[in-house]
Amino acid sequence: MSSEAPPLARFCILISGEGRNLQWLIDACADGRVPARIVRVISNRADAAGLRRAAAAGIETRVLPHGDFASREAFDEALGALIDEAGADHVLLAGFMRVLGAALIARHAGRMLNIHPSLLPRYRGLHTHQRVLEAGDRVHGASVHFVTAELDGGPVAVQAQCTVHPEDDAPALANRVQHEIERRIYPQAAAWLARGDLALIGTQVCFRGRPLQQPLSPADFDPSFTEASP
Ligand code: GRF
Repeated sequence: MSSEAPPLARFCILISGEGRNLQWLIDACADGRVPARIVRVISNRADAAGLRRAAAAGIETRVLPHGDFASREAFDEALGALIDEAGADHVLLAGFMRVLGAALIARHAGRMLNIHPSLLPRYRGLHTHQRVLEAGDRVHGASVHFVTAELDGGPVAVQAQCTVHPEDDAPALANRVQHEIERRIYPQAAAWLARGDLALIGTQVCFRGRPLQQPLSPADFDPSFTEASP
């Protein structure tokens, strides 16, 4: 029997902006918490700060400006070709601000994750932190879900909560959600995906072969994703 480690999963990451989630994924792949290699980062915006994070980590980058394409279908086709060319097993959306078409999503069914800053199914779409404050919610959070053709509507795999403080404004809340929650849940979800622990069978999320009755939460996390970090 061989004692060789299984090959690393190959991730392609799609971004549009700052790239904090990208950075946390880069760090978790680099220190071995996520058994994957990020083979390519693709941005639809040339000015996305995340591109510099990728380049600093030695990761190949591509820019695909959506304005260069006459239709969503043409953009999706070019994006799909860049993903295929990279030989990616999985596609992780990390602050990617373009709606993808059903055909591209179908081609990556069960192999595409997104992180969304709300406790889905609440607050799909934009401006989630402001909407949580306006509703007077005391609890907020973030979710990692499989991508389906329904915007922010795919089956949720991992979710975690935080408290809304009375003095919070939207930027403060966004900052707490990112640093307390997103920083942990996306790398943890990515680790499970890379190991084959997390899968989508039809519309059902399965974890280690069993259907999930509710999203995975910090109680299920590997210690390396829950222990305090700088
Ligand atoms: C995150 O809050 C994520 O949940 C949402 O977009 C934001 C991206 O931020 N989808 P960053 O680019 O990872 O800093």
